[in-house]
Amino acid sequence: MKKILGFAGAVLMASLAFMGCNEKKSAANSGKKLIKVGYAQVGAESDWRLANTESFKSTFTPENGYELIFVDAQQKQENQIKAIRDFIQQEVDYIVVAPVVETGWETVLQEARNASIPVILSDREMKLSDESLYLCWVGGNFLKEGQDAVAWLDAYLKKLGRDGEDINIVDLQGTIGASAQIGRTQGLEEGIAAHPNWHLIAQQTGEFTQSKGQEVMESMLKQFDKIDVVYSENDNMTFGAIDAIKAAGKVPGKDIIIITFDAVKEAFNRMIAGEINCAAECNPLHGPRVDEIIKNLESGTSVTQKKQYVTEGVFDQDNAQAVLPTRQY
Ligand code: AHR
Repeated sequence: MKKILGFAGAVLMASLAFMGCNEKKSAANSGKKLIKVGYAQVGAESDWRLANTESFKSTFTPENGYELIFVDAQQKQENQIKAIRDFIQQEVDYIVVAPVVETGWETVLQEARNASIPVILSDREMKLSDESLYLCWVGGNFLKEGQDAVAWLDAYLKKLGRDGEDINIVDLQGTIGASAQIGRTQGLEEGIAAHPNWHLIAQQTGEFTQSKGQEVMESMLKQFDKIDVVYSENDNMTFGAIDAIKAAGKVPGKDIIIITFDAVKEAFNRMIAGEINCAAECNPLHGPRVDEIIKNLESGTSVTQKKQYVTEGVFDQDNAQAVLPTRQY
């Protein structure tokens, strides 16, 4: 009898626990099933990336109707491919990818298609033989960011009366093959081609990280006596480069013009301190944008825009102080 009661008690407890769990889910989403989303994130290489991760984690919550499976791929494409395969195994409703690099995705996207799971791209783009392998993309216009930075440099040199001088530029590139690198590098190279007195004296990847940015800048400073401009393809590499410049006895922002990308809060602090001259914005807050796409799909509205570019600005020492209080990341 004791045994029977014990068993019945256990069944009752399990049922209560199960009901409790269901209640939690329905409270979170008024009785609806949670939408399962797998997000294959690039990594945690920069302040920008951390803000992007936070944007997804704070948007894709059970209260908002989601179960989020988040994977940090540690800047490796093979980890993202594995994550996508795992999402397929776990039968997610949607796959979201911020691709480390642009190429090499056809096979795994075909697997997602075979499993009838829509793929949404965010942040960086993919270059595919068949564009229909993904549903849509939302992110920044990296080429325009580069072109905007170049236009800023052109105007700044004119303002300084240095537009007739020979200008030596070094390019700290992002992860080679990432669309953020491809677009920003192209923007600079177009600027070099349009200005015969601008000379691209060195170009090397700093992998979008602070430590590598510092290391590459140290070696460039040893190699070249005259560096007029550092064009650094993200803020964290810039912070590393600034440390290297100071260690070499030079003043960043004065002896060397510093141009950066992302425009996170710390870049604004550095502009106010005079260490960075210009920051071209890259907006990381894609969580709510992808949420809107998925909610539309769930309500039967199909995607009309294959690519959605977000609006981004350019900031410098003239407006940094006024703009900083308005920044979200
Ligand atoms: O793809 C966006 C870029 O990736 C950001 O500029 C950089 O900080 C990040 O690592």
